[in-house]
Amino acid sequence: MGSFATIQRFTEEETKQHNLRIQLLNKGHKAKYRFEDIIGKSEVIIRSKSIAEKMARTNSSVLITGESGTGKELFAQAIHNSSSRKEYPFIAINCAAMPDNLMESELFGYEDGAFTGARKGGKLGLFEFAHKGTIFLDEVEGMSPALQIKLLRVIQEGEVMRVGGNKIITVDVRIVAASNESLDELVASGTFRKDLYYRLNTLPVQLPPLRDRGDDIMLLFNVFREEFGVSFELSPNAEKAFMTHIWNGNIRELRNYVEYLAYLDKKIIDCEDLPQSFHSCISKPNKALSGTGESYESELLLRIAGNRLDDYLFVLECLNEAYAKHETIGRNSIAERADSMGIYLSQQEIRDILNKLDGLSLIKISKGRGGSKINSKGISVFNEMRNKY
Ligand SMILES: Nc1ncnc2c1ncn2[C@@H]1O[C@H](COP(=O)(O)OP(=O)(O)OP(=O)(O)O)[C@@H](O)[C@H]1O
Ligand SMILES: [Mg+2]
Repeated sequence: MGSFATIQRFTEEETKQHNLRIQLLNKGHKAKYRFEDIIGKSEVIIRSKSIAEKMARTNSSVLITGESGTGKELFAQAIHNSSSRKEYPFIAINCAAMPDNLMESELFGYEDGAFTGARKGGKLGLFEFAHKGTIFLDEVEGMSPALQIKLLRVIQEGEVMRVGGNKIITVDVRIVAASNESLDELVASGTFRKDLYYRLNTLPVQLPPLRDRGDDIMLLFNVFREEFGVSFELSPNAEKAFMTHIWNGNIRELRNYVEYLAYLDKKIIDCEDLPQSFHSCISKPNKALSGTGESYESELLLRIAGNRLDDYLFVLECLNEAYAKHETIGRNSIAERADSMGIYLSQQEIRDILNKLDGLSLIKISKGRGGSKINSKGISVFNEMRNKY
């Protein structure tokens, strides 16, 4: 039985409209993955899977946290498919991707004439549509405070009200939420509601980063190689580079690299074939630094920054100052600061610099509204460079 046939309340027209909207949201309404599809033999991933499988059987909200590309969406789908809700819709929504008012009408629907441009006859919200199924709230940390209150109401009361409406509609929807960041830090900094956090976090699943998954790196490498129908081998040094790479983009990054390497059409992939971001392959710490006395990270920063070192140091300085005040700092503030000091840096340039610094693991960029934060390695590199340049 298809997931739509189970909901008798909707007309064919409503279902058609709905499918269109889901396509527009670029997200599916069916969960494809099962736990069997989640590849991994490391202890950490097996533990995460077994916890999530147990949680799937309950009706409570689940909060999946993990870095980008660790498989949060995969897990959310697998949870739905192992639950008694599997014959009903699975609706995935990215909370950080949509403007607030659009998101509100998507989630809760609206009544006829609720606002200018509203569709005649009103619109069904995704919560109503997902009745008896699961709603996956991806990047939940990006949800605005106003919507956080409304979501809390759905979870607590199982009720929604359409925009511009006054009728309470009862819904039975299970929430699976995902976040790239630890939400408790956002609660502490006041950007995420504590009461909502506790409601979502009833059942927490933490997904391990790929760099902590040991042999899973080569296991996944082999799986993706097969998927792309290629048979190249890694040289011993290249394999070592794979095993020690930071993998900030986790499994998605690994998959992308396998695809990229497949295009090279070589039998053996050696270090020089690997993308630049494979730092450990560029040169080993001691060798690279002969004579200069700089740390490995500073050396990498010098290479990456090239003739833009001043801009990199300026951004690091902003982050360092924010850190001293126990704050995070966003692109806007950095841009304003640069402007006030007569330094010309566009938002895009600042974004690039922040991404590179994040790639070097000197800072951590938060998605959503969290801003960026320097870490201890970043501070020591900044101090080292500031004294020299
Ligand atoms: N254990 C796994 N086995 C096979 N493929 C996986 C596994 N984990 C993740 N992937 C693949 O890695 C990619 C990223 O997974 P997914 O989209 O679930 O990550 P995510 O944590 O939601 O990332 P983001 O935070 O960036 O949205 C997908 O292509 C997915 O199919
Ligand atoms: Mg995701």
